[in-house]
Amino acid sequence: MELLDGKKIANEVKEEIAQEVTQIKTNGGKIPYLVAILVGNDGASETYVGHKEKACAKVGFRSEVLRFDANISEDELLNEVHKLNNNPEVDGFIVQMPLPKHISDQKVIEAIDPKKDVDGFHPVNVGRMVIGLPAYVSATPDGIIELLRRYKIETSGKHCVVLGRSNIVGRPIANLLSQKGIPGDCTVTICHSRTKDIPSITRTADILIVALGQAEFVTADMVKEGATVIDVGITRVKSDTTKSGWKLLGDVKFDEVSPKCSYITPVPGGVGPLTIVSLLKNTLKASKKEIYG
Ligand code: GUN
Repeated sequence: MELLDGKKIANEVKEEIAQEVTQIKTNGGKIPYLVAILVGNDGASETYVGHKEKACAKVGFRSEVLRFDANISEDELLNEVHKLNNNPEVDGFIVQMPLPKHISDQKVIEAIDPKKDVDGFHPVNVGRMVIGLPAYVSATPDGIIELLRRYKIETSGKHCVVLGRSNIVGRPIANLLSQKGIPGDCTVTICHSRTKDIPSITRTADILIVALGQAEFVTADMVKEGATVIDVGITRVKSDTTKSGWKLLGDVKFDEVSPKCSYITPVPGGVGPLTIVSLLKNTLKASKKEIYG
């Protein structure tokens, strides 16, 4: 069994991006510039945006957080999005989700210029990704692809089972792995809450990707000997054994599943660290006008 070390891979990619930014600076080029819009003061969102700012600083990007009160109106927020769309200095921007209830997430996402949508949430980017055109791919599916690529995990002709059909993980990763290429060329099955006898399907998986948000859902009897298991879940649970009084659990019962695997991601330290790297990669692509010219 080999651990898929997301932290190590994330540091490698960040180092590569930092070197490219140094080169851009030496050549007098434009430094990539990412902006994050943060509405209200949700603790988790504050933490995520803080991590994104730190990652930008680490690779030499310019970044800024625009903070707005939780009672900003939808029209006012849409106006801020339009200003960023029209600001030539800004290469890419994100609007941190979730937004307050009186604002439509979808309306805001669709107001973002797809050329600057480095989260890859806009339907134009999702649609382009689905038909195999260059597109900004959202963070978690892109992170999974990066892990499979860097560990040179064979995907061609393999049966990949995806547990979960969310717009941001299950469906895009199922789509990407079914496409031609490396990693890709998988035969893909998506399971969800209405799927009958999930264990009989997961037991046929060469690659099992779990994105349900249900702590320790996958047990050893559900996994084929020698499988690759990618665990996207992170659930915070109370714990008597840690100093903080809580711990993070994945969607896979790691202790009993890992001995059966060829490769498995730990939680934390698996897919998670690669999600911010995807945002950095997309911002670099935006500044180089790689996707849309
Ligand atoms: N909230 C949780 N994850 C994300 C993300 O990747 N992007 C944005 N914009 N909001 C999030």
